[in-house]
Amino acid sequence: LQTPGAVFFIFGATGDLARRKLFPAIYSLYREGKLAEDFAVIGVARRPRTQEEFRSDIFNSIQEFCRYKTEDNEDFRSFAQHFEYKSLDINNVDGFRELNEQTMVLEERYHIPGNRIFYLALAPELFGSVSFNLQKGGMLDSAGWKRLVIEKPFGYDLKSAEELNEQIRQVFKEEEIYRIDHYLGKEMVQNIEVIRFANAFFEPLWNNKHIANVQITLGETVGVEERGGYYDHAGALRDMGQNHMLQMLTMIAMEPPSRLLPEDIRDEKVKVLRSLRPYAGAEEVGRNVVRGQYVQGSSRGKDLPAYREEDKVDPNSNTETYFMARVFVDNFRWAGVPFYIRTGKRLPVKTTEVVVEFKGMPNNVYLGQKHKLEPNLLVIRVNPMEGIYVKINAKKPGSESEIEPLAMDFCQSCMVGINSPEAYERLLHDAARGDSTYFTRWDEVATAWSFVDRIAEAWKQDPEGPRPYPAGSWGPEEADRLLAEDGFHWWPVN
Ligand code: BG6
Repeated sequence: LQTPGAVFFIFGATGDLARRKLFPAIYSLYREGKLAEDFAVIGVARRPRTQEEFRSDIFNSIQEFCRYKTEDNEDFRSFAQHFEYKSLDINNVDGFRELNEQTMVLEERYHIPGNRIFYLALAPELFGSVSFNLQKGGMLDSAGWKRLVIEKPFGYDLKSAEELNEQIRQVFKEEEIYRIDHYLGKEMVQNIEVIRFANAFFEPLWNNKHIANVQITLGETVGVEERGGYYDHAGALRDMGQNHMLQMLTMIAMEPPSRLLPEDIRDEKVKVLRSLRPYAGAEEVGRNVVRGQYVQGSSRGKDLPAYREEDKVDPNSNTETYFMARVFVDNFRWAGVPFYIRTGKRLPVKTTEVVVEFKGMPNNVYLGQKHKLEPNLLVIRVNPMEGIYVKINAKKPGSESEIEPLAMDFCQSCMVGINSPEAYERLLHDAARGDSTYFTRWDEVATAWSFVDRIAEAWKQDPEGPRPYPAGSWGPEEADRLLAEDGFHWWPVN
């Protein structure tokens, strides 16, 4: 499906996100014929840049980060013709007026009917002033639709998120706002819905009668890289927990929507967030949540520095680089089923995985044998491997009645010819087509913040700080103990 003709404005065009994700995503859409010929992109940032320099930034970004490669040939040049650059101080309305003039020229050249999509790859503190100046500078007066796409983190806590939202809402309507959570653009996260709702195998078992627990892991091997300044202020709970982790949890736990329409799906997701059992105070947070910070360690023979030694990180920082929580969804379907969610930097593997552990079989003929039955597992691999596997018990070939677990494994990313679109491709395409299904609505963001704020509040009062864990390990041991209390353990991830 092609996007309708539109101008894409990338605010923060010289930044990391634009270079790593946005330009490559636009190019992939172009290559796949998903972008209408009548498109234009204006990169906006403070720093001066000639059109030539900007186009060569785009070329380099595609070469380095895009799943399609290109050469500096005719085809690339005609693509790059659609890109222009505007150096702009976002506090200066006159710059926006000039931007409007520049836009109108492009709209005329490419016969674009005034549709405008503003992507703010900027710090959230700037969302408000950019929105106001877009309005004052006449950028919202064109004939077509206008949409605002904004990156996470959406605020620092509920209060700041509300303030931010209020500012943006003075200019844009809720249905014009597309809040990105790029995990929702991942192929396998979207597949969760299909696996659940299109398979007679799973849906009847998808409840507390049959599921013992759910484990969601978002592990990263990287440290904070060049983002120490941002990360030390945010930490794992705000950087990953409030958004990606809770969003994945909602996809696993939501009720089937009555129709597959954006609002129906988002209604079901927000119900899950509202059903999260809030921790009653610091003591409950202490019993259910573990926070950690990496100290020196090693991985694959390489020594790794401690978090506190990283660039732009306070040497006495108490920011968590790991967090794990036992969460309950207090509704009819999930009462009593623990959801264990964990994420961390400098873990042993880069992986995003959901493990659904089913309850054991009732006392059966095999009990009393020397082989203990393993529980059935459904594992959804999101990243970097994409696939699903189901662990079942079967007779060991050649034995009398020995049972062994075996995996029925479907690896999507191993299949030749499958080159899954990147999350940002999918999301940019959706935003341009006006499909907000995989964007977070304000009430989702707000409800997630109120859950997370209680944890952050308890941590503020806890003098102990995060538990240290060696870089390259699976985080503090408390996280294992927490599952052991419930008679479970983490299933090894791949
Ligand atoms: C971002 C976080 O939202 O997600 C980063 O800010 C994190 O800290 C990243 O590294 C992980 O995304 P992905 O797609 O690589 O799993």
